[in-house]
Amino acid sequence: MLQNDLLLRAARGEEVERVPVWLMRQAGRILPEYRAVRAKAKNFIEFVKNAELAAEVTVQPVDILGVDAAIIFSDILVIPEAMGLSYQMIEAKGPWFERTIATQQDTDKLVVTDGSNLQYVYDAIRLAKKQLNNRVPLIGFCGAPWTLFAYMVEGSGSKTFSKAKKLLYTNPKLAHQVLEKITQSSINYLLAQVEAGANLIQIFDSWAGVLSPEMHTEFSLKYMAMISDALSKKVPVTIFAKDAHFALAEIKNNSCSVVGLDWSVNPNEARKILGANKTLQGNADPCLLYADYAEIEKQTKQMLNAFGKHRYIANLGHGLYPDTEKEKVKFFVDCIKKHSYAKTADKIHA
Ligand code: CP3
Repeated sequence: MLQNDLLLRAARGEEVERVPVWLMRQAGRILPEYRAVRAKAKNFIEFVKNAELAAEVTVQPVDILGVDAAIIFSDILVIPEAMGLSYQMIEAKGPWFERTIATQQDTDKLVVTDGSNLQYVYDAIRLAKKQLNNRVPLIGFCGAPWTLFAYMVEGSGSKTFSKAKKLLYTNPKLAHQVLEKITQSSINYLLAQVEAGANLIQIFDSWAGVLSPEMHTEFSLKYMAMISDALSKKVPVTIFAKDAHFALAEIKNNSCSVVGLDWSVNPNEARKILGANKTLQGNADPCLLYADYAEIEKQTKQMLNAFGKHRYIANLGHGLYPDTEKEKVKFFVDCIKKHSYAKTADKIHA
């Protein structure tokens, strides 16, 4: 059905004629076209809830950057909101929650959503699918329960998330109750995303790296495994646990098909740890795109060589920074396309 299903074939471990590429935060402020649509909405949250506008910016990077997949324009924080914790997105600061989770009473008040109050996301997915017209797959997503918990307890972003971690150490029982509610809500939400047309699901564990390996196993991976088990029967699942290279050995046993890597991970090491049955995704440093064109091309070739053509999806190791030049982003995408057409061998002449 899809004209370009490179992403899905790579995710499933099938043959590809070239490496697929998409970029985290591809629908975002690097595109003047995004900023123009964004200006039509009163604020970020209204923007996310406007299915027409969300669909429009979802499709933009496919047209403008030539990426091999779209990712639905939304935010991981729609789940806390659907569970009863509303948030604001404060310009140049980030998310802010008026109410946070600290006590049993707060936890009891949290709603497990059946997904029905997130209809605007499914509407945006349906509209985006229509506009994509089977050109490329559409990626759905959610935040990892631990990463959402971190925002819901902390109430905002943080360098250390020490308040959220304090709850893990002082009241693990309560933490598990919260994490279970988030997990159940996320499964309901993602199943509805797939029903609406999402072809692959990515779980963003952006704050995995603040946990110790043991804590990450207990408070994060356990819940990502539940989500992955529920979804991977239907579509391929990607787990992206940022800064958690220590978790790769355990992620190997997870039902996901794809493992996202940040730039701190060596591709050969990751392949050794994860074995042949996972697709690797990543992992250029978003700051590489501040370099000149020759340097971008050189390092992109090195990345392609290190990962090889099979079971690989090219991407950055985290989201694009808003002050990246659009032309450099496009050049990065083009480099991947140009250099990964090598027919048989995995190696590209660097
Ligand atoms: O293109 C895409 O990747 C799809 C859209 C997307 C957004 N957020 C839009 C967005 C996705 C996949 C996310 C996920 C997300 N949101 C994560 C996980 C990925 C990661 O970056 O680690 C996290 C932690 C959030 C929470 C969040 N949303 C923060 C901390 C911020 C503020 C920081 C910032 O970049 O301004 C946001 C806002 C946000 N979400 C923006 C976008 C495009 C920028 C706001 C704007 O355009 O005004």
